[in-house]
This record gives sequence, structure tokens and C-alpha cells, in this order.
Amino acid sequence: MITVFGATGTIGAPLLDALRAKGANLRAVTRDPGKCAELKARGYEAVLADFDDPDALQRACEKADKVFLVTPAHADMRQWKANVIAAAQGAGVGHMVMSTGLGASPKARLTFGIWHSESQELLKQSGMDWTLIQPTYFMQNILWQADTIASGKVYLDDLGGAVSWVDARDIAEITAEALTGEGHAGKAYGLTGAEALDGEQIAALLGKVTGHNIAVQAVSAEQSRAAMEASGMDGSVAAAMVELAALAPKGYLGGIEPTIENVLAHPARRFADFLQENEAAFKG
Ligand SMILES: NC(=O)c1ccc[n+]([C@@H]2O[C@H](COP(=O)([O-])OP(=O)(O)OC[C@H]3O[C@@H](n4cnc5c(N)ncnc54)[C@H](OP(=O)(O)O)[C@@H]3O)[C@@H](O)[C@H]2O)c1
Repeated sequence: MITVFGATGTIGAPLLDALRAKGANLRAVTRDPGKCAELKARGYEAVLADFDDPDALQRACEKADKVFLVTPAHADMRQWKANVIAAAQGAGVGHMVMSTGLGASPKARLTFGIWHSESQELLKQSGMDWTLIQPTYFMQNILWQADTIASGKVYLDDLGGAVSWVDARDIAEITAEALTGEGHAGKAYGLTGAEALDGEQIAALLGKVTGHNIAVQAVSAEQSRAAMEASGMDGSVAAAMVELAALAPKGYLGGIEPTIENVLAHPARRFADFLQENEAAFKG
């Protein structure tokens, strides 16, 4: 039995598909009764648990031999991960696959790298087998601004440099392999796409998909931070986001990791194809 936390999220949703395709026995976790009913209607075993509820977390881990854990980027993410690690230990889980972020290590100097590293070290000390999934920026992030692209014919660029975007479906496939295949314990998988693209290149790809000229509008760190806080994000998380984004103009977010091609039987998905598949969202 594999318990999947974050099962309705950007990684979790395609992970359920990937695990089902492998015939895995799984239990999806959500804190939302409506989503729980939806998962059950789709044939999944599903349970309710909040990352703040240790008893519910332990029940969600019962009889599971493996657990997948991802939390949203949130001010409480370290505590939430610690709660799930403790619950999994208590339930006798043997192997946890945890998704964190590219560059997370005890040497990290950036807030997200430090936060993720703290959770990674906790898992390593737990006595469970562990596998770390460490992705870079998700292609799916661009869907957050699909309406602006469709209505304003503008791509809002809060990075200002090339990024080796990764498709969350590739993250999910690697995770499914780590949860069901052999030889993944003790491994940390840094995940990127196969090419680095900057704002101009993304706008050009969007132009091909939509048939319109898509302009690039630079978004400053201050504007980006204010928008995230206005949407309800905690100030510490918004600050960590702009701190990370500031690496792009320095060229530090464009590195390519060969992990996807090495572990899966196909190359990393490409941004052009992702945009084409989501054509309707960008056309409005
Ligand atoms: N986006 C990026 O570009 C990027 C890049 C690198 C790393 N990351 C890292 O990836 C992680 C986010 O992954 P993701 O996008 O797959 O996650 P996500 O979609 O933001 O969230 C995953 C799920 O967590 C559940 N959740 C939220 N609060 C909860 C709570 N209190 N208790 C229980 N469940 C809760 C939600 O499910 P329910 O609503 O069903 O409960 C949600 O669907 C973060 O750690 C981030 O730092 C992101």
C-alpha cells in the first residue's frame, strides 16, 4: 500500500494516474471532503487528513509500506513534513519518497533550499528508506496566468532569465518509479527539463500556439512579492519566492539535469508541447 499525501496537487494528481497505470495499490490523502468523494468516485481509496492533525496523519499511514509526501510552499511546510514523517514512523512505514526542490541540501543558502533541506535531513534520520525528488520550476505555473495571456496578449515575466522548466507529469512519473521500482532508496533526483527558456522564448512559443503576438512584461521583485501577498500568501513565503527568482538573471536556474531521460524511458517533456496541449487555456 502506498499512501499519497498532496494527492490533489500539481504533482499529486498526475502521480495518482502514474501509479494507477502501474497497478499500484494506493491511498490518496486530502483535507477536503468534496475532493475525497471525487477521488472515491474515480475508484481510488481516499481518506481525509490535515497536515496539522497527527492522529489523522497516522491513520492515513496505517498499513502503508510506502508514503509519498509533498506539501504546498507554506510557512508551516517544515512542521507539516515533520508531522507526516513522525506519523509514517509511528505506522511502521518502510520507505518515504519526498518532493522538495532543486538545490535543497545542507549547503543551501536560499530560504527554500534551507527549509527543504531541514525536512530532507529529518527524513534521512528517521530510519525509513528515503528518496528525494528535487524539481525546478514547474511548467504548470504558467497556467496561473493563462487568463492574462488570453485577454491581454502579454506574458508576465517575474524571472528575467532562462529557466529549465520541468513538466509536473515527469516529476510524477519519476516519483511513481521511485515508489514502485527497485534501487531508488538513498537517491536524490534533481529534476529539470531538457532546455532552458527565458521570457522572450516563452512568449514566442505562446505566440505560435495562440496565433497572436504575445508581449513580455517584466515583473519586478517588489511587484511580484506584493501580488503574492495580496493573493493571501504569507510574507515569509513570498520573500522566499522572490529570493529564488532572483537567481534566474544570474543564470543559476538554467542548468540541465539528465535524470528524467536516465530514469524514465523517454526524454523530458518540452515546454512547446505543454503549451500546445493547453492551447485552449491560452486562447481563452
Ligand atoms: N511550483 C513550482 O514551480 C515548484 C518548484 C520547485 C519546488 N516546488 C515545491 O513543490 C511543492 C508544491 O508541490 P505541488 O505544487 O504539487 O503542491 P500543491 O499543489 O501546492 O499542494 C498539494 C496539496 O496539498 C494539500 N494541502 C494543502 N494544505 C494542506 C493541509 N493543511 N493538510 C493536508 N493537505 C494539504 C492540497 O490538497 P487538498 O486541497 O486536497 O487538501 C494540495 O492539493 C512545494 O514544496 C514547493 O516548494 C514547487
